[in-house]
Amino acid sequence: MSRLIIEGGKPLRGSVDISGAKNSALAIVVAAALATEGESVLDNIPQGSDVATICQILEDLGVEIWYDEDRRLHVRGQTLRKHQASYELVRKMRASFYSAGLLLARLGKAEVPLPGGCAIGSRPVDFHIKGFSQLGADVVIEHGYMKAETTRLKGAHIYINRASVGTTINLMIAASLAEGTTVLENAAKEPEVVDLAIFLNGMGAKVRGAGTDSIRIDGVDQLRGIEYSIIPDRIEAGTFMLAAAITGGDVVLRNVVAEHLRVPIVKMEEAGVTVTRSGTELRVVAPERLRSVDVETLPYPGFPTDLQQPFVAAMCLADGTSVVRETIFDRFRYVDELRRMGADIKTEQNTAIVRGVPQLTGAPVEITDLRAGAALAIAALAAQGRTELYGVEIIDRGYELFEAKLRSLGANIYREQLTSPKELVTR
Ligand code: EPZ
Repeated sequence: MSRLIIEGGKPLRGSVDISGAKNSALAIVVAAALATEGESVLDNIPQGSDVATICQILEDLGVEIWYDEDRRLHVRGQTLRKHQASYELVRKMRASFYSAGLLLARLGKAEVPLPGGCAIGSRPVDFHIKGFSQLGADVVIEHGYMKAETTRLKGAHIYINRASVGTTINLMIAASLAEGTTVLENAAKEPEVVDLAIFLNGMGAKVRGAGTDSIRIDGVDQLRGIEYSIIPDRIEAGTFMLAAAITGGDVVLRNVVAEHLRVPIVKMEEAGVTVTRSGTELRVVAPERLRSVDVETLPYPGFPTDLQQPFVAAMCLADGTSVVRETIFDRFRYVDELRRMGADIKTEQNTAIVRGVPQLTGAPVEITDLRAGAALAIAALAAQGRTELYGVEIIDRGYELFEAKLRSLGANIYREQLTSPKELVTR
């Protein structure tokens, strides 16, 4: 175990490369195993423990998967043979449930543990399961597993109750090799869904309409591996933009698709940040003090829930009061930790009322989930004095080289290994 130490108060300056999108990579690595011909070579795969977990799950199912010396990920699905996913691996991460779509499409049989509770509230997979049965699978829930079977999935017209990213991805994976046409209505429109569709089509699938709320998938008999490069991570980009904004910094982000950040950019501009685009670069220049801004999280293209926590952190030091409404998950547990740093935040159900304070002070804080980790780090970068962040392994799930990138921008941040149990209870 380790902790991050941040000495706050230094404005971030310089430029930073944004990595490939974690949530795109998780879907595409699984989809790559749909191919029974050739291999896929995936570029811009971010290093993080969630991606490592999905690779382990696929390997355990029989898929050949390895990195070459250029850190490109090779995936060969021909050897996929096991239809039972390991509880030990799946329990680590909810996106592991994508293996169900893969197994049903490839083997007509899947036994995958149901993901359990989560630090950002109840996250059921009922839409995924309903979709599999609409595609003709016989599904039962038994002993904590979803057990599903079919001779071959059959295309169907499926309405997804909420525009769920995971359901859309899982059903796209499953329907690609189904017999006939599937239409997903009320599909998620996130860039990661579009990235998956482009990848699948490159493999020989017939997916139309990704990026709209109606996706049509004409099933094909076989897919082949291709070379592909994953889109940049819009959430990592947004996180660094907010880190620059709260510290009074001036930062250039490289390898960004500004279009994917349209609403977060608008909100940052409302807060007084100057954002300039130039090709795949974004320059972020902070004002002397941020202005308060109200935000409501919504499915894409709305303000992403994955930036809610970092945004609240930035608003803690803004001039005025911000009202932040979270409509996707139960994601306010981390505000207790921000309060320990001097933030003035009240929460009522799914709303946080953030009264900007002139100063935050460093404190020992506990990371509850990935984006909470980013939020606490952002607050710490602007706080006076030293912050110790515990539970930093959670940040490692989805941010590649987190502290190295911040350090390259001038932040005073380093990691300390915790060895003795005594050190673990110092807070
Ligand atoms: C994806 O989660 C992302 N994860 C999340 O990223 C992200 O916060 C979320 O989409 C929203 O953008 C990955 O891509 C791996 P949903 P997902 O299905 O797919 C409800 C991060 O920090 N729902 O779009 O699980 C659900 O409870 C994370 O990187 C059901 O009720 O989210 C939520 O309220 C965490 N039943 C809403 O729908 C279901 O079967 C949308 O969730 C599925 C979802």
